[in-house]
Amino acid sequence: MPTIVPAILENTKEGFLDKISRVIMLSGVERIQVDFGDGIFIPNKILPITEIDNLNPAFHWEAHLMLKEPKEFLDYQICGFKTLLVHYEAFESLDNLQSALESIRSLGMKCGVVINPTTKVEVLKEFVGLADQFLIMSVNPGFQGQAFLEETFSRVKELRMLLPNAIIEVDGGVSLSNIRELSHAGADLLVVGSALLKAPNILEAYQQLQKEIES
Ligand code: DX5
Repeated sequence: MPTIVPAILENTKEGFLDKISRVIMLSGVERIQVDFGDGIFIPNKILPITEIDNLNPAFHWEAHLMLKEPKEFLDYQICGFKTLLVHYEAFESLDNLQSALESIRSLGMKCGVVINPTTKVEVLKEFVGLADQFLIMSVNPGFQGQAFLEETFSRVKELRMLLPNAIIEVDGGVSLSNIRELSHAGADLLVVGSALLKAPNILEAYQQLQKEIES
């Protein structure tokens, strides 16, 4: 059964702590994604890791690094992140990306490769055995609340055919209107930002999303 992964994208420490407190109250949440952006790889400069301290170890924290050529991974590990997700498009070469994945694993964390909507799904074949999960962006990275790109359904199906045993994650514009079809297409992890955090009642929104993926 697919897992809903609430996503926190915040530029201020107080906003970050407020969103964390709202998300960890949702019973059933086991995995939470925190977005990071450097204002270079994406236009948005998001709260840096230096502003975040020890995360609640009861959850599996994953960091979505929308950063150009990320190298410093120790800070995330110290903070309590268990998985780091890096962008295929953020590296000058495959070697740089592969060594980033190796250094993440050498710190005892899991790693994932993220592809933007215009990057071919097949590039992910290169990372079988090197990455623990694969994230298909269903919006162009950088901001919450963007519209879901419909071609994502076929991209998820394509990746599931290509890598039958992979852990496939989808991120961006996931909501009640597409979460069921994404699950049926083969997604394992469904990242949800504004459909939860901008909902009038976050608990109700979470329960409705959960019901959709169980159907
Ligand atoms: C976008 C981020 C997403 C975002 C999801 O750049 O990578 O994780 O927080 O938010 P929604 O679900 O509102 O698109």
